[in-house]
Amino acid sequence: MLAAASFVVSLIVSSVIVPTVRGLNWTATPFNPPSVPLAVRTPYLSAWLNQGEGTALNGDWATFWNGQIVGWAGFVKVDGKAYSFLGNAGVPNATFDKAVQKSSTFTSTQSVFVLNAGPVDVTVTFLSPVEPDDLPKQSFPFAYMAVSFYSIDGGSHSVQVYSDISGEWVLGDLTRTIEWSTQIQDALTHQVQLQNQTNFQEGGADRIQQGSAYYSTLNQSSGLTYQTGPDVDLRALFINQGKLNNTQDSNFRAISDNFPVFAYAHDVGTVNTFTTDPVVYSVGFVRDPAVEYIVANGQFQDRSLYFWSQFTEVQDAITSFLNDYKDALSRANEIDTKVETDASAVSEDYAGIVALSVRQMLGSIEITLSKKSDGSFNTDDVLVFMKEISSSGNVNTVDVIYPAWPALLYLNPTLGKDLLEPLFQYQATGQYPNKYAAHDIGSSYPQAHGHNDGNDEPMPVEESGNMLIMALSYAQETGDNSQIQKYESLLDQWTQFLITDSLIPANQISTDDFAGPLENQTNLAIKGIIGIKAMAQIASLLGDSSKSSNYSSVASSYVSQWQDLAVSADGRHLVLAYGDSSSWDLSYNLYADKLLKLNLFSDSVYSMQTAWYKSVANTFGVPLDTRHTYTKSDWEIWTAAFVDDRSVRDMLIGSVKKFASNGTSKQPLGDWYETTNGTAEGFKARPVVGGHRTLPLQRLELTLAVAILRRHRARLLRLRCYSSYSCLSSLLTLWPGRTCSFM
Ligand SMILES: *[C@@H]1O[C@H](CO)[C@@H](O)[C@H](O)[C@H]1NC(C)=O
Ligand SMILES: *[C@@H]1O[C@H](CO)[C@@H](O)[C@H](O)[C@H]1NC(C)=O
Ligand SMILES: *[C@@H]1O[C@H](CO)[C@@H](O)[C@H](O)[C@H]1NC(C)=O
Ligand SMILES: *[C@@H]1O[C@H](CO)[C@@H](O)[C@H](O)[C@H]1NC(C)=O
Ligand SMILES: *[C@@H]1O[C@H](CO)[C@@H](O)[C@H](O)[C@H]1NC(C)=O
Ligand SMILES: *[C@@H]1O[C@H](CO)[C@@H](O)[C@H](O)[C@H]1NC(C)=O
Ligand SMILES: *[C@@H]1O[C@H](CO)[C@@H](O)[C@H](O)[C@H]1NC(C)=O
Ligand SMILES: *[C@@H]1O[C@H](CO)[C@@H](O)[C@H](O)[C@H]1NC(C)=O
Ligand SMILES: *[C@@H]1O[C@H](CO)[C@@H](O)[C@H](O)[C@H]1NC(C)=O
Repeated sequence: MLAAASFVVSLIVSSVIVPTVRGLNWTATPFNPPSVPLAVRTPYLSAWLNQGEGTALNGDWATFWNGQIVGWAGFVKVDGKAYSFLGNAGVPNATFDKAVQKSSTFTSTQSVFVLNAGPVDVTVTFLSPVEPDDLPKQSFPFAYMAVSFYSIDGGSHSVQVYSDISGEWVLGDLTRTIEWSTQIQDALTHQVQLQNQTNFQEGGADRIQQGSAYYSTLNQSSGLTYQTGPDVDLRALFINQGKLNNTQDSNFRAISDNFPVFAYAHDVGTVNTFTTDPVVYSVGFVRDPAVEYIVANGQFQDRSLYFWSQFTEVQDAITSFLNDYKDALSRANEIDTKVETDASAVSEDYAGIVALSVRQMLGSIEITLSKKSDGSFNTDDVLVFMKEISSSGNVNTVDVIYPAWPALLYLNPTLGKDLLEPLFQYQATGQYPNKYAAHDIGSSYPQAHGHNDGNDEPMPVEESGNMLIMALSYAQETGDNSQIQKYESLLDQWTQFLITDSLIPANQISTDDFAGPLENQTNLAIKGIIGIKAMAQIASLLGDSSKSSNYSSVASSYVSQWQDLAVSADGRHLVLAYGDSSSWDLSYNLYADKLLKLNLFSDSVYSMQTAWYKSVANTFGVPLDTRHTYTKSDWEIWTAAFVDDRSVRDMLIGSVKKFASNGTSKQPLGDWYETTNGTAEGFKARPVVGGHRTLPLQRLELTLAVAILRRHRARLLRLRCYSSYSCLSSLLTLWPGRTCSFM
């Protein structure tokens, strides 16, 4: 009777799902993003579910960040009836329905989908671990998919689940021949790779012709079967029989030649109203060595991912990863809660944007070690490499690390230091010929080959300022002066360059290179002057007070000269370029003045810009500058961090949220978009979204919270004083330096 009643209730409930967004047939929390991260850990393990106005988990295939399909299929059988829950497979000669998606949710580490398959709901959790304090774990290029079930009609149901990946996880050129094998141990592992590999060589469309994809699951019951073979055959076999043949296809062939897939089927058994333990899969992509790095005298060094210092076989690392799922999930939940709590203190819009950005930012980096002469790993030599992604394949682009810097500081400043270190090391070898800071240490990831010809994309003021700002920021945040100490002379050299070139910046590009070069850019001058002042602080930290005061006075004098050049004739805003009073821009470089607590620029500059942005915002935010109507989401949020009016701050953050949730974009979150109509421009999946997590926002909120607390405490104290004279002395000890006056 009870079961029947709850069946009726759940029928009613499931038939009145209210669409939250036009065209969206499920609940999307916190919102429907342009693309949902599924397995996003490195530049080459990057699987997404693109959304547009809404795409269910079984409404399309997962894709690499560039849009190439990475075949990832999932089916479930409930009491003998088959449903697809993952991917968009057609299976000839087999009958199945699509499970109906009920919800999608993303956090900083997870994307969770609930789909209904008849009397059973299927929960699919994609966990891409975020392990900022455990560099070996963060370096392990794997993600989890966990699938669990519960009965929604109160009854018991027999459930089997199937999943496979295709050779598309190896390369987008489907004519290339792949080979594969299956290891059967505590964990079953399918391994697949190109037959003909080339180290460190991408093979078009940002995929790499080196390394292996892995799909694994623990054998925890007798009800596990596996198989490799043609996609339609294996999927049909499962749909018809509920299990696989435990056989291996040994006919190595092209990726698209009868698409070989690498599959598992689990007999989950009887499912009732309690959620089952999840069936856990891991998917990964491993190259070794991972990065080729230039050292002294034009020599190259091979570098391996950090996890290799703890494992000699990938299979062991995978088994450990799978066994760790429960703990990994609870660590992930902790990170999610921390990010959510910190960010929602600013606003709900902000919390959603930050959560969507975390995996994307970390998915661009690889944490590496070198080997000692005896072949063992040197865990004292940690270097982090970042791929620029989509705007180019440059390695450790300084003006891409720079916008991501706030998130790096927040997650673990050491990651930031280890990203700057290869840039410092390379330039300290003397092989880079320019007197300003290099743009990157290699044109094509993962070849960190430097630019001994000096022909990297020239951003002289931009990158010199960025290096100085980030180097000081790391030292301030951690109290660790080792990097600024070691590279003091390089930092000084770049400061000398800024002293000559930043007040009146020559015709050059800034990080926003797509907007073209320009002379006398106000915002570049801001960066250069902050860079000079940063060196004054660095000199002070290193005990050189005369250098510090010299650079300090240069910076102050530049600020006052700058102010005369940079303000429009009507005094209402900063100009884009000196002398052009009708021009203006997002002066996002002012953020560094706040980040480094320099107070170089006067409050009046901040309030002038705040008022101006309020008056020029379009539907999707403030344009980058007067040359175009597009903007950059990272710079919107950087600007939000220093405006002095909460409504302008929320407008800037809200604009980025509007863009990210509008349903017009169908690609991993872009940072460059139109402010008039929310259309994404070419960039996607870039790590610069780390700039969506700007530190002073939190500090501002903390200050507010403390101020509110103080006010309440004062009232509390007054109340107590009225009501109970005897509590007075104990309260006074709680609040030293204050006396309680009777009103
Ligand atoms: C939502 O359901 C309607 C009606 O079945 C369908 O036309 C529409 O395409 C669905 N939208 C999505 C995003 O699946
Ligand atoms: C489907 O069944 C038909 C008839 O039995 C057969 O000719 C065909 O080869 C099958 N297709 C696949 C993909 O198995
Ligand atoms: C392997 O790849 C290299 C470089 O892409 C190519 O020159 C070579 O011919 C290939 N070898 C085979 C056997 O396909
Ligand atoms: C899984 O483990 C069970 C128990 O050890 C064993 O009987 C079975 O053959 C294993 N299954 C596979 C697919 O390796
Ligand atoms: C599975 O095994 C059965 C029995 O040997 C065989 O008839 C069938 O063709 C196999 N199916 C596949 C897809 O390997
Ligand atoms: C740049 O600004 C300086 C200082 O005001 C000025 O002398 C120079 O003519 C400007 N250059 C251009 C192209 O406006
Ligand atoms: C201050 O710095 C400038 C620019 O580098 C240099 O020319 C000058 O000698 C320095 N003065 C002192 C007192 O160090
Ligand atoms: C997208 O933006 C337009 C323009 O502001 C708005 O009318 C529309 O409702 C938005 N769509 C969604 C799904 O938010
Ligand atoms: C959005 O605005 C840009 C710039 O005006 C324009 O090029 C583009 O076509 C617009 N896109 C849509 C979908 O209206």
